[in-house]
Amino acid sequence: MRILGVSGSLRAASFNSALLRAAADLAPDGVTIELFGLHDLPLFNADVEAQGDPPAVTAWKDAIRASDGILFACPEYNAGITGVLKNAIDWASRGDPAPLTGQVACIVGASPGMTGSARAQDQLRLILRRTLTHVAPIGEILVFQAHTKIEDGQLKDERTTTLLGAHFQRFIDEVRQRRG
Ligand SMILES: Cc1cc2nc3c(=O)[nH]c(=O)nc-3n(C[C@H](O)[C@H](O)[C@H](O)COP(=O)(O)O)c2cc1C
Repeated sequence: MRILGVSGSLRAASFNSALLRAAADLAPDGVTIELFGLHDLPLFNADVEAQGDPPAVTAWKDAIRASDGILFACPEYNAGITGVLKNAIDWASRGDPAPLTGQVACIVGASPGMTGSARAQDQLRLILRRTLTHVAPIGEILVFQAHTKIEDGQLKDERTTTLLGAHFQRFIDEVRQRRG
């Protein structure tokens, strides 16, 4: 099973990207998490799209199509998702069929504040519903006070690691069930 890990942060020391790396370490045999960086995606522009997807957009859409599921790590900016992530979703919502249509997804998130990106995650669920992406109904991973749990890009907190592992396993079960 191939899971695509997508972080809504471009920051090298991103707490959210750290969650994806931790999930990759927890993946059971037969499951891989491949991280896809959103750094190279241009801003969505329908004029550009009309001339054909730029190479970075093609790579993004191909990566989604080649995966069995997507694990989103969702930072919170101003009580919503980052522009980086929204832009990537907008590109992937286009085409016939759009790469996101019928995909299975799961959301985790971290922030230094007390809400662990809860508001952004709720917004992401709404956006993904609009793109006909199935978000696994498996509860939430809200890594609050992330700076106390993630050091040097590594998840150090034992309880969070256990919760993340269980969440990821539930997601894998959901992907298996839907993919047959
Ligand atoms: C423009 C901006 C707005 C932010 N707004 C929020 C917010 O609404 N809620 C929150 O919990 N953190 C907020 N933060 C703090 C981020 O959660 C923090 O920068 C976090 O480290 C971003 O995720 P990352 O570590 O994956 O890059 C904001 C940060 C920035 C730069």
